[in-house]
Amino acid sequence: MQYDLIIKGAEVVSASDVSRADIGIQDGVIKALGLDLGDAARTLEAEGLYALPGGIDSHVHISQPSGPGIVMADDFESATRSAVFGGNTTIMPFCLAEDDQNLREAVDDYHEKASGNCHIDVSFHLIVNKVDSQTLGQHLPALLEAGHSSFKVFMTYPGMRLSDREILDVMAVAKRHCAMVMVHAENEDAIDFLRDEAEMVGDIAPYHHATTRPVPVEREATHRAISLAEIAGVPLTIVHVSNGEALDEIRRARLRGVRVHAETCPQYLTLTAQDLDRTGFEGAKYVCSPPPRDEANQAACWAGLEQGEFELYSSDHCPFVFDSNSGKKVEGSERSFRHIPNGIPGVETRLPILFSEGVVKGRISLSQFAALTATNHAKLYGLYPAKGTLAVGSDADITLWDPAYQTTIRQSDLHHGSDYTPWEGFGITGWPITTLSRGQVIVENRQLVNKDCHGKHLARSLPGLPD
Ligand code: URP
Ligand code: ZN
Ligand code: ZN
Repeated sequence: MQYDLIIKGAEVVSASDVSRADIGIQDGVIKALGLDLGDAARTLEAEGLYALPGGIDSHVHISQPSGPGIVMADDFESATRSAVFGGNTTIMPFCLAEDDQNLREAVDDYHEKASGNCHIDVSFHLIVNKVDSQTLGQHLPALLEAGHSSFKVFMTYPGMRLSDREILDVMAVAKRHCAMVMVHAENEDAIDFLRDEAEMVGDIAPYHHATTRPVPVEREATHRAISLAEIAGVPLTIVHVSNGEALDEIRRARLRGVRVHAETCPQYLTLTAQDLDRTGFEGAKYVCSPPPRDEANQAACWAGLEQGEFELYSSDHCPFVFDSNSGKKVEGSERSFRHIPNGIPGVETRLPILFSEGVVKGRISLSQFAALTATNHAKLYGLYPAKGTLAVGSDADITLWDPAYQTTIRQSDLHHGSDYTPWEGFGITGWPITTLSRGQVIVENRQLVNKDCHGKHLARSLPGLPD
């Protein structure tokens, strides 16, 4: 037999084109693309389906320390199971150190948690929330050199946020090691002020999470993060951009010649702040930062995707159980929004939402879909060309997509550890049917057929440039 597996009859999608081809796979790698490839031990018939590069979700949070008494709803097994059902073949979680750990210990801990428990491949970003001489002088440089070539800094969240000086100091390390700095851009002092004002007049419902994090909070921090990166002389990625004014800052910076990359997420394309205003405590299901905005800002984010201004579309999967005092109800449902853990689940629904709302509705092309969900993530974070494309020599990470599959998102059909989805009842056209990770069929006809957890951690090369 020439191949372990041939996928026959699919339309093969890349970030640049779409063509009819069979895919020959041997030893987990794509060995041939073309017609009449010959013999294989197994053939998958894929007539009427798209073969897409397996999704890469470069922004997910798994088993991350989240504060006293709070537990994330997913471990590596459940998160990667949910991810592969959603057509993903690589996810990139963040390593955050516990209070008593240094960054090196945190990374070792994450490797241990992930090892043997992943259905698909993972690669860790770092979070830098302690700026001391050991972190800057030893742990961070060593970890960047060891293939953890990107890290996130926060301008918000007490205990996580860095000062401008601290951000400059870590950017200087990124510059020396050619690493990618990812920034969560929201002004914590402004949020703190607005939170106090809101609570003073009794505005404590989940909706006030959104009113105390208005657009200027994000716009100002986006401008400041970019300015700090200009001063330090490093490229940066602004993650989870939620609105048009922050995107304007990114456009202006690019016109000045700054290398700034931008990511948006399904919540900023399909949800609004009104979702946080649902009756009772239901709004807590939508509490994430930045918060969903309004329809005008949704339209601005769609325009940014259509015009190629966002290179990345990620889930920011950050799952908590709603009906639990170790989740969204950590302080019960009567106390201020300030206590609600920030984050929503979305790793499984990311691709279907963009396909249905983007490709089916004619906003983006199939090739843009591949770039936004896989190729650009691989390029920007140093996984390309092994990951993120269907090319000879690349890993056989492939999602077979049924463009005609009609469904409605229901919590009962999903595989994450949360007890809800923010998209309950959302109508979808197009769904991933079968997903291969390094040539192994993991999900077939929407069933988990391989429970081996063969996923591994991927050390990365230096960040590259999306086209
Ligand atoms: O609310 C969110 N986005 N939680 C996850 C942590 C982060 O800031 O990305
Ligand atoms: Zn963030
Ligand atoms: Zn996040």
